[in-house]
Amino acid sequence: MSAVPATFANRVTELLGVDIPIVQAPMGWIARAQLASAVSNAGAMGIIETSSGELDVVRAEIRKMRDLTDKPFGVNIAQAFVRDPAIVDFVIDQGVRFVTTSAGSPTRYTAALKEAGLTVFHVVPNLAGALKAVDAGVDGLIVEGGEGGGFKSPRPVSTMVLLPLVCSKVDVPVIAAGGFVDGPTMAAALALGADGVQLGTRMVSAAESPVHDNWKQAVVDAAETDTVFLNQHTSPALRALRTERTSALELDRETNAMGLFANVLDLYFGGDMEAAIALSGQVAGRIDSVKPVAQIIEECATGCLEVLDQLSRQYLR
Ligand SMILES: Cc1cc2nc3c(=O)[nH]c(=O)nc-3n(C[C@H](O)[C@H](O)[C@H](O)COP(=O)(O)O)c2cc1C
Repeated sequence: MSAVPATFANRVTELLGVDIPIVQAPMGWIARAQLASAVSNAGAMGIIETSSGELDVVRAEIRKMRDLTDKPFGVNIAQAFVRDPAIVDFVIDQGVRFVTTSAGSPTRYTAALKEAGLTVFHVVPNLAGALKAVDAGVDGLIVEGGEGGGFKSPRPVSTMVLLPLVCSKVDVPVIAAGGFVDGPTMAAALALGADGVQLGTRMVSAAESPVHDNWKQAVVDAAETDTVFLNQHTSPALRALRTERTSALELDRETNAMGLFANVLDLYFGGDMEAAIALSGQVAGRIDSVKPVAQIIEECATGCLEVLDQLSRQYLR
């Protein structure tokens, strides 16, 4: 990655201590050392999940990270899924410097995490959430549009609307999430006011992602219309790949789709795409091959710089 110059130096690279302002999304069972170390070693920010709730495994994965990389990495606290407040001490004890908090109130853990010296970014789905997080004292925001994969606000707002809105109202650094996949989308995030991007669906389908090949192939095969937005009538809402089972739930206002997660590992690692729900974003429609993480990061970084250069030469002559 030495081919990418210090051109990216900005508030996010400075705060996170990375060369390239790309963050790999936290994802239960998936965002573990195999994937996260590849991201950190490529000059971006690898993240270890805690949303699986398997904290003993997570502790071992963090130890593995230290063998696999000497670069910075972070941890995510998905508050709705790890409800015991002991998670704060757990994360502090792991000695990481960067934490993202999501799926819950930013007032809950920010002060304790910051007091322990961690850099805290909170994930927000709307402007009110962003302002609340800034008030709570976060160092930065992850602004996540409704086209992204995973758990969502039941009132989704697209990245194209949400990102410039939030960036125009806050002064803290922003990492954009939802729909990012390549150089042009990364350049767009910077144009809309972000300092970096977070990649979810692109990382699920990366070569180093531990999920079953059937899921990666389903992402590769998916059209941009092949995700469903579920649970809008309850909470949390979620965006996932369209399958027979999830299509049937799309307009179902009775069933809580969370019940389908009972057999999640049969899908994630067994490859049975109807066993549970394959959280994925609309950007699956733009992913047409499984690539190694280093290539994904390199293509995003150099592609982004090329777009910025080409636009400035075309329009600023
Ligand atoms: C399989 C999967 C699992 C996810 N799990 C989490 C999680 O545990 N915590 C979290 O903050 N976000 C989670 N997300 C959301 C991502 O962090 C990210 O913001 C989102 O995927 C970005 O949109 P994209 O899919 O278009 O890249 C998950 C996303 C996916 C696809």
